[in-house]
Amino acid sequence: MTAPLICPSILASDFSRLGEEVRAITEAGADFVHIDVMDGHFVPNITIGPDVVKALRPHTNLPFDCHLMISPVDSFLEAFRNAGADLISVHPEAGPHLHRTLKYIRQLGAKAGVVLNPATPVEILDWVMEDVDLVLIMSVNPGFGGQSFIESQLRKIETVRARLDATGSAAILQVDGGVNAQNAASCVAAGATALVAGTAVFKGGRDAYADNIKTLKGL
Ligand code: DX5
Ligand code: ZN
Repeated sequence: MTAPLICPSILASDFSRLGEEVRAITEAGADFVHIDVMDGHFVPNITIGPDVVKALRPHTNLPFDCHLMISPVDSFLEAFRNAGADLISVHPEAGPHLHRTLKYIRQLGAKAGVVLNPATPVEILDWVMEDVDLVLIMSVNPGFGGQSFIESQLRKIETVRARLDATGSAAILQVDGGVNAQNAASCVAAGATALVAGTAVFKGGRDAYADNIKTLKGL
């Protein structure tokens, strides 16, 4: 089985030292930097805006994977792209026009992702399959780090894997929320190619990051 890409969520890092934390996960073997953007409206928490993303950009060459949990979303896409986002993922519920939003993300020169909440049906993908570079399955309800993995989402990963394969899509299949050493292999077996992890990467202090990432990769 191919090792998954590991995308540490900096939500679980030390916010008073974000630049150092981004450098530390880069040295520890991370593949993407997962940046959780929350607006206190689409989700019940507030985190990072484009200025912080911009300030972090010089600290690593890794792709910035921006998970936008904001509504409305279109008016902020350019700001995140200009700040250095390489992948931009959006929730269909953040609306109002998912297809337009995905096209716009690609027009801006970024890769476009769609995020499915635990209760969001997979069928929405059928109508945007050609417009996505990444599908993100939420294995928790978005808003906070440190929640427990919702087991039913393994079946959703399998379902989306089958749909991507059936259409010949090379999109990254990413899982986010409660991913840890106990369930990472099941996510990969179900068809995931990228794992987001906050708690499971940042636990144990900086000396542990490299081992934490290796464990999640199954190495
Ligand atoms: C939740 C975020 C996740 C979360 C992951 O809304 O999208 O990225 O921070 O954190 P853990 O791995 O701790 O569940
Ligand atoms: Zn996320």
